[in-house]
Amino acid sequence: MSTNILQNNLALANMTADSNLLTGRVVIVTGAAQGLGRATALGFGRRGAKVALVDSNQATLDDTVKQMLSHGAECTAIVADITDPGAPSRIVQKTTELLGRLDILVNNAAISSVEPLLEVTEGEWDKVFAVNVKALFFLLQAAARVMKDSGGGRIVNVSSPAARMTREEYVAYSTAKSAGDYITRTAAAALGPYGITVNAVVPGRMDTAMQRTNEMASAAAAGIDLQTYIHSRTVDIPLRRRTTPEEVAEAIIWLATQSASYVTANRLNISGGLELD
Ligand SMILES: NC(=O)c1ccc[n+]([C@@H]2O[C@H](COP(=O)([O-])OP(=O)(O)OC[C@H]3O[C@@H](n4cnc5c(N)ncnc54)[C@H](O)[C@@H]3O)[C@@H](O)[C@H]2O)c1
Repeated sequence: MSTNILQNNLALANMTADSNLLTGRVVIVTGAAQGLGRATALGFGRRGAKVALVDSNQATLDDTVKQMLSHGAECTAIVADITDPGAPSRIVQKTTELLGRLDILVNNAAISSVEPLLEVTEGEWDKVFAVNVKALFFLLQAAARVMKDSGGGRIVNVSSPAARMTREEYVAYSTAKSAGDYITRTAAAALGPYGITVNAVVPGRMDTAMQRTNEMASAAAAGIDLQTYIHSRTVDIPLRRRTTPEEVAEAIIWLATQSASYVTANRLNISGGLELD
């Protein structure tokens, strides 16, 4: 390859990399105190974005703040239960006040529930829907109002392979995640004219606190030793391994970059083939 062609290729590579930097972009990440939310916040921070870290767990959120600051990332912590009445609009308002604007929303916070279909209680159903559907929708709405006025934005909702599975002990969680997918599609159509993209990311099995709690409950209910159960739920993944919050965070962040400018209404499957699209 001639020196000129090599230099042109390098310039192109740098241009692509630069256009995918998120310097000065303002992001809200819910559920940022641990797991996928924390990895996503750190990933955005490394690319120069300013991050509003939202979570109801102050102690673990403080750890995320420390990690963000140790990487030189700009952030603000918003300790809030996203299901509190009016919380979604307060979170968006606080973000614009403290960080100046809002470009990206990552609706990551969720709770899971493991109850056989015949045992599901109204209280558990309502709790799951309050976080995974209602708060997700009103955060999206509050963020989209600001993004519409500023000429555009990116919204990423975190879904789950469970949304398309028929696991009866996950019926509340799975139904809520399906509702989230419906919101993603509808919002993508409604908000496209304002330059706002809306996509979902579907993580595979990550060894987070949520996954561990679910697997302990399911293994106990099935009378199977936990390690045997975890092994069986690893070898059934076509890529034969679990994923990490960091690996899934890369997909979320990509959806917020210039490279994904024409991607909307997508359900991006990062499940190692667990979900076969
Ligand atoms: N872990 C997996 O294998 C897996 C697989 C598929 C999808 N997901 C999805 O990925 C996302 C992140 O999951 P995770 O495994 O990191 O979960 P996690 O339980 O480890 O973390 C979730 C975070 O959300 C916060 N949160 C929950 N309810 C809240 C509320 N009402 N207000 C404010 N904060 C609240 C929690 O405090 C916690 O910090 C979720 O949407 C989950 O459904 C996870």
